[in-house]
Amino acid sequence: MAEFALPKNSTIGKGKHFPAPAGAKTVKTFKIYRYDPATGENPRWDIYDVDVGACGPMVLDAIIHIKNTMDPTLAFRRSCREGVCGSCAMNIGGRNTLACTHAWEDVPGGQLQISPLPHMPVVRDLVPDLTLFYAQYASIEPWLHNTTPTPQGEWLQSPEDRSKLDGLYECILCACCTTSCPSYWWNGDRYLGPAVLLQAYRWLIDSRDEATGDRLDALEDPFKLYRCHTIMNCAQVCPKGLNPAKAIAEIKKMMIERVI
Ligand code: SF4
Ligand code: SF4
Ligand code: FES
Repeated sequence: MAEFALPKNSTIGKGKHFPAPAGAKTVKTFKIYRYDPATGENPRWDIYDVDVGACGPMVLDAIIHIKNTMDPTLAFRRSCREGVCGSCAMNIGGRNTLACTHAWEDVPGGQLQISPLPHMPVVRDLVPDLTLFYAQYASIEPWLHNTTPTPQGEWLQSPEDRSKLDGLYECILCACCTTSCPSYWWNGDRYLGPAVLLQAYRWLIDSRDEATGDRLDALEDPFKLYRCHTIMNCAQVCPKGLNPAKAIAEIKKMMIERVI
């Protein structure tokens, strides 16, 4: 009988323990995924007892505090620290979210576990490799397509048409939704995933864009669009409160409407 086992290099080992500094009054324990492919070693969980009384309220504050005062080798991405750039997306307490807008106090349980966004290759520690994600975004050609001569001033849009972009333009491409989508886990090489499809819809319903037919043609594919099974993880995790599943349903509706 066939026996199935995970490859040895996929198991996560026990890592180092960094105790809280002497005199720390309020301590919270962070369990953080560590991986450096350059070492050839397996990933590990490192444990940090953080003096949260000495850092700010958000998970990102605590991670920066760890890097500055306990372990300078910890790698992660961040930039704006206010939920705008999308770079600090990670899995916190089992949920994909932004470290900079998520308070460590709000994560239930004694130990706060942090790992990179799931189902992506890991560059190092909490840094996922988003090469495919960005290539898929580029594939939908996320810019205005039109043949009408460029106006001297601006491309005008009525307030009503502009409001159709609400709930779409706010996407910060953090990839929290895409990496929480089971369909993307299974078919990520061919299914575009919720973030990219939400962006595709943003251009499809932009009244200034003149390539709707071409854009729909490019999405008419059994995998690119139709792998969404309305599982709704995407809408549940989006830190900006957006609903990619609804955008995907709207694209499917446009596909049907153009053939009837
Ligand atoms: S839809 Fe939400 S979760 Fe998905 S990439 Fe955009 S902001 Fe992030
Ligand atoms: S609704 Fe569609 S895109 Fe969203 S998580 Fe489910 S399968 Fe993925
Ligand atoms: S650091 Fe920019 S969204 Fe968190």
